[in-house]
Amino acid sequence: MAGSVFGNQFRIMTFGESHGKGLGVTIDGCPAGLSLCEEDIQKFLDRRKPGQSAFTTARKEADAVEILSGVFEGRTTGTPIALLIRNKDQHSKDYSNICDKFRPGHADYGFFSKYGFRDYRGGGRSSGRETAARVAAGAVAIKILESMGIFVHAYARSIGPVTAETVDLEEAKKNPVCMPDAKAAKMAGEFLEKCIKDQDSAGGVVECVVTGMPAGVGDPVFGKLDALLAQAIMSIGAVKGFEVGDGFLSASSTGSRNNDAFAVREGRITTLTNHCGGILGGISNGEDIVLRAAFKPTPSIAREQQTVNEAGEELPITIHGRHDPIIVPRAVVVVETMTAITLVDALLSNMGARLDAIIKFYGREL
Ligand SMILES: Cc1cc2nc3c(=O)[nH]c(=O)nc-3n(C[C@H](O)[C@H](O)[C@H](O)COP(=O)(O)O)c2cc1C
Repeated sequence: MAGSVFGNQFRIMTFGESHGKGLGVTIDGCPAGLSLCEEDIQKFLDRRKPGQSAFTTARKEADAVEILSGVFEGRTTGTPIALLIRNKDQHSKDYSNICDKFRPGHADYGFFSKYGFRDYRGGGRSSGRETAARVAAGAVAIKILESMGIFVHAYARSIGPVTAETVDLEEAKKNPVCMPDAKAAKMAGEFLEKCIKDQDSAGGVVECVVTGMPAGVGDPVFGKLDALLAQAIMSIGAVKGFEVGDGFLSASSTGSRNNDAFAVREGRITTLTNHCGGILGGISNGEDIVLRAAFKPTPSIAREQQTVNEAGEELPITIHGRHDPIIVPRAVVVVETMTAITLVDALLSNMGARLDAIIKFYGREL
């Protein structure tokens, strides 16, 4: 199966299935000299792991990461970093009654049509569990960014019909739905309790803001920074929409309102507004990068649904596995880390953009 590699200079490859022995990631291209230990990665995995609130599945995966290579005496060596997470709490028999049925809204039918064979336990490679490996790699990317004064923060902007009206990053760390607005978080919790009672699920929007990004990163054509971010974010399971800056709203704006006027403040070129979300012509402009990902409701719901089996017969399906009534709170850190991986890759890819910088790097005269 191809398609498990992302990035060029900071290149990750994830492997593993939700009900196999384990999953993980290799990172090729991480610069040498970054201070790194398992705890740096574990704290991000702990934000993604299930079983932390009534709104995440009761699965009790420890998601403990092991660094297998690429780190010596607490620093990256510049060689491939391999990170392993062993699976512990698999209930494969939860899936035996649906092994030949296609779950509505899930990846089963497409996967079976392509490969003619599938690991039906929890979605195999298409499981949301694969994102644990991305989060592990992204924790490394975030450490690189932070060493450069670049910070990535994501939170739930909306859950079902409830939207956060204020953004308090500390609040988003405290409540179980990761909303940056305490009042909205309470309303979202009540809405989700009703979803659970109705044996249903909900969706929402994750917003991500990057501060400290320098101007001049990205490419003008196929490697546009917003195009790369779109690929990274749309590759997360259950993401059905992506936007940068004002996104879809800009379609109903006017040029005079939508253009961000340039100005000079404290000796730096800046813009007075940020409708473009920090990217113009595929290249960062030094303002905050703002992006959003729309997550659909969790496909696996406890209600009986209508489906078809591998023999082409119509029949009902009841899904017994343990599933999140909403994906958004666990996906916040996935959006944050996939954003970080994309930005580190773009920053490293940018290193060869200017001859004067290359000459200076090698200590030669201009
Ligand atoms: C962090 C995370 C957790 C997820 N948990 C579940 C889950 O418990 N049950 C489920 O049916 N889908 C879950 N999904 C979504 C499915 O993986 C996804 O909807 C499915 O693979 C179909 O892909 P698509 O929705 O991108 O088309 C999760 C996704 C993510 C990112």
